[in-house]
Amino acid sequence: MDNTFDVAVIGAGPGGYVAAIRCAQLGLNTVCIDDWKNEQGKPSLGGTCLNVGCIPSKALLESSENFERAGRKFAEHGIKLEGLSIDVPAMIARKDKIVKAFTGGISMLFKKNKVTVLHGRGSLQKRSSNDDNWEIRISVDEKEQSVRTKYVIIATGSIPRVLQVAPVDGINILDNVGALALQQVPEKLAIIGAGVIGLELGSVWRRLGAEVTLLEAQDSFLPAADEQIAKEAYKTLTRETGLVIHTGVEIQSTRTDKDGVAVEYMDRDKNTQNLKVDKLVVAVGRIPATTGLEAEAAGLQLDERGYISVDEFCQTNLPNIYAIGDVVRGPMLAHKASEEGVAVAERIASQRGSFNSATAVNLGMMPWVIYTAPEIAWVGKTEQTLKAEGISYKVGQFPFMANGRARALGETTGFVKVLADTESDRILGVHMIGPYVSEMIAEAVVAMEFSASSEDLARIVHAHPSLSESLHEAALGVDKRAIHL
Ligand code: FAD
Ligand code: NAI
Repeated sequence: MDNTFDVAVIGAGPGGYVAAIRCAQLGLNTVCIDDWKNEQGKPSLGGTCLNVGCIPSKALLESSENFERAGRKFAEHGIKLEGLSIDVPAMIARKDKIVKAFTGGISMLFKKNKVTVLHGRGSLQKRSSNDDNWEIRISVDEKEQSVRTKYVIIATGSIPRVLQVAPVDGINILDNVGALALQQVPEKLAIIGAGVIGLELGSVWRRLGAEVTLLEAQDSFLPAADEQIAKEAYKTLTRETGLVIHTGVEIQSTRTDKDGVAVEYMDRDKNTQNLKVDKLVVAVGRIPATTGLEAEAAGLQLDERGYISVDEFCQTNLPNIYAIGDVVRGPMLAHKASEEGVAVAERIASQRGSFNSATAVNLGMMPWVIYTAPEIAWVGKTEQTLKAEGISYKVGQFPFMANGRARALGETTGFVKVLADTESDRILGVHMIGPYVSEMIAEAVVAMEFSASSEDLARIVHAHPSLSESLHEAALGVDKRAIHL
């Protein structure tokens, strides 16, 4: 193998593999280096997202929601079921099959686009100032090889944040990997952290019958979401889904024995509480993955929180080295990583003269989705941010209860809210909680990217009956002219 490339991408998650494919499409000779191994010890492309993140969690959310619907909702449709049960190993096997298909799919895409793949841990080597190329050393087990490259894209992602008082052992105390692979429903499950992973995976195991308690350090629930949405989510997830959520807690200690895990924590009133559970999941955020990269030795600058420092174009402090995805500032989301990958690939191609458009990813226009039931989705600013920034805004809101399609689905919880500038009417934020809002939010992103006003959305024809009519009505509501309310 010729070991000289135009671009070396380190990491094959949604940031790295997308960057590598786009580089190859643009005619750059590209290598992608990734060290992920699956449970069978085999290389598996796709990073956190495909192996132990977005895809497997959504597969389990779908299975568990079907179980929940069959048990609690089919009867109102006149569908009678007896002896309903869940075969957890079959559910997990389905999830594994989906993961395998997708990770294998990346290998095929790499082949099709002529991206070279090397399995192993990539580390950046210090170079002398007169050398035009960077060297990446790749180590796997005891073996080492190296490649030389003009450009480097670092996409090494993130790893779970460790909590000293609750060390993950993979048996009783789990991180996202273990929580996605349980072979039976625990009777009692506790989750430290009521963030995105806690709520999604907590929902999975709750729907299948576990008693789930979330222990959250912050006083407020989902502080990044619009306050009104967070309040509705808390109400629905506790009353309807049945999650027990304690905020403002401090974990004191955990102790494992053959029967499970004992968790001692201080509640928000500073009283000590004890909780005995079969399994404990730790989901207290993720940290950038730079170990093994030898970034600092090569002169790469990290910020005070350990992220690789980059500018708006994902350029690091070193020439021709870019970094994207979870390992740099901004939300830790797969679509953010992928879009940064595309933007950087096009920037590199522009510098080489084979492309002539290079943009930065607009982090202010990033859609967020939490795949609970009801789903939560938003883009743009929240009401609390607009107030804090002193921006004058108007609100239009529409409940799914008044939407025909939601009624037919039997999914009437939640609402859509449009926030628009008082003067210009430009849409500043859209917030949703309800059925399939993960799909509906895309329309809001398009509208905002094109600087639409609420009037624009209000004048666009929406199919009837559809859930998207709720966004239409919320936009009409900005000027107090919703029809069905
Ligand atoms: P990663 O996907 O983490 O990939 C990095 C890759 O680089 C890995 O394969 C890693 O092994 C490899 N690597 C690291 N260091 C080296 C090295 N030195 N040499 C070689 N290889 C290296 N996001 C969403 O948008 N939607 C969701 O629904 C969603 N659900 C999630 C559910 C869970 C349970 C979790 C944990 C995360 C979820 N995320 C979701 C977040 C999403 O997975 C991440 O934002 C995304 O994977 C980041 O992509 P990345 O390419 O930056 O890094
Ligand atoms: P998170 O940041 O969403 O939530 C972590 C929670 O743990 C926070 O609420 C935090 O206050 C709490 N916490 C921190 N320390 C604690 C302590 N000592 N005791 C109790 N609570 C504590 O992080 P999470 O859930 O681990 O997920 C990581 C990231 O992965 C997310 O931020 C998101 O970017 C991504 N993700 C995205 C999904 C999606 O897009 N649907 C789904 C799952 C993950």
